[in-house]
Amino acid sequence: KPRPSLDLAGTAEFLKSGACKSVYVLTGAGASTGAGIPDFRSPGGMYDSLRPELITATEAQRKRMRMDPVNVVMKDMFFQNQFPYLEVRRPFILGTQQQQWKATLTHWFMRFLEEEGLLKRLFTQNIDGLDYQTGISPELVTNVHGSLARVSCEGCGYEMPFDDFCAQVRTNVKDIYRTDPTAPAESSNINCPRCNAPLVKPNTVLFGGSLPSAFFEQLDDLNGADLLIVAGTSLVVSPANSVVMYVAKDCLRLIVNKEPVGQDLGIRYGKDATRDVWAGEVSCDEAFLDLIKMLGWQDKVRKIKHL
Ligand code: OAD
Repeated sequence: KPRPSLDLAGTAEFLKSGACKSVYVLTGAGASTGAGIPDFRSPGGMYDSLRPELITATEAQRKRMRMDPVNVVMKDMFFQNQFPYLEVRRPFILGTQQQQWKATLTHWFMRFLEEEGLLKRLFTQNIDGLDYQTGISPELVTNVHGSLARVSCEGCGYEMPFDDFCAQVRTNVKDIYRTDPTAPAESSNINCPRCNAPLVKPNTVLFGGSLPSAFFEQLDDLNGADLLIVAGTSLVVSPANSVVMYVAKDCLRLIVNKEPVGQDLGIRYGKDATRDVWAGEVSCDEAFLDLIKMLGWQDKVRKIKHL
């Protein structure tokens, strides 16, 4: 295989060369911040803006969340009390129902890769569904942390229509961010219509829950990748982050993230790099726009109606 130069231009050359036939992508919350959805771990992100004192929970639960805000998406916490999760996620759940956010250039880039016959799989940790707005083939997308497309009871498995669930979120769950004047002042249970347990939630993966089996089955395919693009993820959450280790030892890896990530997973930057490229301290959208220009794909961008 020709050895591309380890920069964005080299990556673009490789993509154009014909030698690169198989591209895999892993995205995280940073792929959607350009659409206005906060990520998890950046300043101002979900964990930073958690406000444990406002969440309906016992003092012990609040203490746990102060120690580590990730507890808000822990399965055992949800089983004790559905509200910390629902209250924090309320604007997000309702925003996705209203299709408040639009796919960014980053999401579109994945669709362009598919159009060029290059995209073999998009692994996304995101549950916002923006990937699908571009018309990307759903069978190429793996929702590693589940999705909002379905809502079900964690207890009995009953599936509740998403719009019915949203109607109850609107009327039963208080708005800790105080952006919705119609929200109730206090939260009241959302019970499963079948078993009555207060355990209904979107089919997203909580910490302590299991990932879709398809994810584990698809990991081995990564061995055939010529290029892995990692975009907008801190790469700290396992097993999603193991995607970077399943590609072959000589597979080019392009990291598009405001800061270099994944050093503990063996990604090497700068003079230590042998097959890793960092797009630099730029946003995902800026980096993918640069790449689009280098690839001569500007016409594809002109055809997008909403950006
Ligand atoms: P994080 O919030 O951990 O990481 C987002 C990364 O994207 C950070 O490194 C940011 O610097 C970077 N970033 C943010 N905006 C960017 C932009 N516009 N351009 C470039 N980089 C940007 O989000 P994830 O890695 O997706 O899981 O988090 C992984 C998982 O942790 C989530 O799926 C969620 C969370 O807890 C569960 O809830 C199970």
